[in-house]
Amino acid sequence: MANSGVDKNRRRFLIATTSVVGAAGTAALAYPFLGSMSPSARALAAGAPVEVDVSKSEPGQMLRVVWRGKPVWVVNRTEEMLAALPSLDSKLKDPNSQVVTQQPEYAKNAYRSREAKYLVLVGICTHLGCSPTFRPEVAPADLGADWKGGWYCPCHGSRFDLAGRVFKNVPAGTNLEVPPYYFKSESTILVGEDGGAA
Ligand code: FES
Repeated sequence: MANSGVDKNRRRFLIATTSVVGAAGTAALAYPFLGSMSPSARALAAGAPVEVDVSKSEPGQMLRVVWRGKPVWVVNRTEEMLAALPSLDSKLKDPNSQVVTQQPEYAKNAYRSREAKYLVLVGICTHLGCSPTFRPEVAPADLGADWKGGWYCPCHGSRFDLAGRVFKNVPAGTNLEVPPYYFKSESTILVGEDGGAA
């Protein structure tokens, strides 16, 4: 009886050991592909979240990072930029972020962000995928007197405001996408995870 107890324990141990070896084998198989890449490229290929330190960004400035091979923008919006947003609503296709695919639930608000100040967007035009140009200035000659800052897509002329909302009468149909993100600390945003929020 005592021996059979030992055997059972030994069998359990062997099963556990085999499982661990199996997992290690899978990891080893994956390594030749990832091994030739730099650590940062490996992380990106795996879709790892990307940290953005916003403490050094100036008001009105845009930081650029890459997440899952896509450009992601983080804009430090000024009070003036935020104050101008509601005045644009009637000129926009989806001012209230009704298209649910374009932002997580926590960014479905007037600023399309968790915190009003910082806007996080995937920097890919929703028309045919060009990368729009950041044009934060007010009323530049080429964009007109009504321009309050935003993005202009050089490919076919789509325009987006400083919440990534698309204007009427341009080819892009939807607002720029807000990726999942959350604040790891007051000055660090993690792009690619939503911190457990819906
Ligand atoms: S890809 Fe941006 S307007 Fe066509």
